[in-house]
Amino acid sequence: MSIKDEVAKRKTFAIISHPDAGKTTLTEKLLLYGNLIRTAGTVKGKKSGKFATSDWMEIEKQRGISVTSSVMNFPYKDFQVNILDTPGHEDFSEDTYRTLTAVDSVVMIIDSVKGIEPQTIKLFKVCRMRGIPIFTFINKLDREGREPFELLEEIEEVLEIETYPMNWPVGMGKRFLGIFDRMNQQFIKFNGNEAESHIPYGELENEANQAMTTTSEFEAAKEELALLDEAGNQFSLEAVLNGEQTPVFFGSALAPFGVHDFFDTFIKLAPSPQARRSTEGIVSPDNPDFSGFIFKIQANMNPAHRDRIAFVRVCSGKFERGMSVKLSRTGKVFKLSQSQQIVASTRDTIDEAYAGDIIGIYDPNAYQIGDTLLEGKAAFEFDELPKFPPELFKKVMAKNVMKSKQFKKGIEQLVQEGAIQLFKDKRTESYILGAVGELQYEVFKYRMENEYNVEVMFESIGERIPRWLKAEQVKESLFDDRNLLVRDRNDNYLVLFRNEFALNWFKDNHKDIELIDLFEVNSYG
Ligand code: G4P
Repeated sequence: MSIKDEVAKRKTFAIISHPDAGKTTLTEKLLLYGNLIRTAGTVKGKKSGKFATSDWMEIEKQRGISVTSSVMNFPYKDFQVNILDTPGHEDFSEDTYRTLTAVDSVVMIIDSVKGIEPQTIKLFKVCRMRGIPIFTFINKLDREGREPFELLEEIEEVLEIETYPMNWPVGMGKRFLGIFDRMNQQFIKFNGNEAESHIPYGELENEANQAMTTTSEFEAAKEELALLDEAGNQFSLEAVLNGEQTPVFFGSALAPFGVHDFFDTFIKLAPSPQARRSTEGIVSPDNPDFSGFIFKIQANMNPAHRDRIAFVRVCSGKFERGMSVKLSRTGKVFKLSQSQQIVASTRDTIDEAYAGDIIGIYDPNAYQIGDTLLEGKAAFEFDELPKFPPELFKKVMAKNVMKSKQFKKGIEQLVQEGAIQLFKDKRTESYILGAVGELQYEVFKYRMENEYNVEVMFESIGERIPRWLKAEQVKESLFDDRNLLVRDRNDNYLVLFRNEFALNWFKDNHKDIELIDLFEVNSYG
């Protein structure tokens, strides 16, 4: 099979949601369809303390949390599916965001009872800034949730994206009867614990269906559907692929109901790996020379296996085990003999991979997040990975002042690796760390002790809203302990606002000062 055909087969995506919306339940159903697991209930037993199939490193088992975003891959129909996990509970971190730089599309799950929740907004923003196509699955239709129109309106208003309902629900909770599948002109009937049934629109009039079609729920949904057809948004694949419109599917991950139909449509519409921007222009995925970039480095915290794995998203050509690649940043050549495919609970050796695939390679302490790896004579780097605004800040110091040399070295290296962000207080020059979630601090502390032999102490600053300033607008007198003025690694100034209120107060009182939000600076295009 040609490289072009291999690329066309690949669908690489992540599932994003707020905790408890149903990501695990949905993922599990997809793995069942892909025959990657045989029974439901094996992916995660949060309460029983079992671990996800996707938890693949020893450290995760020891700590009981999923430190990494793992990758699940399986063939499905004519496609090769790669699902990248986005850790969401207490392990939400910059890695969760960065995973989104390695996918070609995203499935966003929304709980029909709760609507849009904070973590969904954060992850959505990253997709938006990268122009990633987003497919929405509104989950838990078997419960009494919000009205479908209300949910669509919320998505359009809060996330500022056009919606197109691919199907339309009839009733909900105890009165949930099924969905109109608009694309395939069929009604998918909810049969409780039994498998769903598919009824072509033409057969709805049949006597056998009358008990259902004459209910008030059915009549109401039919009217809504007519309204949508007449006055609703038009479906546009182009708008979907540009990240301007999101196809919305209603269903229930648990039942499961509507999941298989959702997946079949999604897998057809979702884009295959696309060309990527680099310093030498656009790199096509079917370019014969291998290229890829590192979006995550996982340090194994088990002292007996002090190895590090770099996760590479393949962007072009063919990866073959044992091949030599050049690290673009330094020009150094490495032989990739210990390549691994990060599948489910095992680390299988992988022999070949194509654009869209994710491989784990042994890191001889040479790689950094964002690095480009190339085969042959090419010399370019993929676009720099975006930086994500930290949310949680802490002052950090060495417990033993005599160890300040190792302390500084450790911080420098971990910061360079992208594990955490470093700032300095403008006045006191003390070190301040910034991260997206608490987990990054735990990992930082552990690694400082184990790899650099320095015990560290934290002093919490708490959740802050960082905004960068233009150099010429920095006025120390404007900031105090509540709204801290700090410097980043590149000597740019930023303010850590205490909360939304403080930020807005400042904006109102200093209209001349421009405050820069990292999310906006990062905009792709
Ligand atoms: P997450 O990974 O996004 O955090 O969510 P997860 O799949 O773990 O689902 C969170 C809870 O919501 C689970 O219940 C799950 O069973 C339930 N759930 C998921 N999809 C549906 C659905 O379509 N309908 C209904 N009614 N519930 C759904 P739990 O009580 O927290 O856990 P469990 O003990 O049932 O596993």
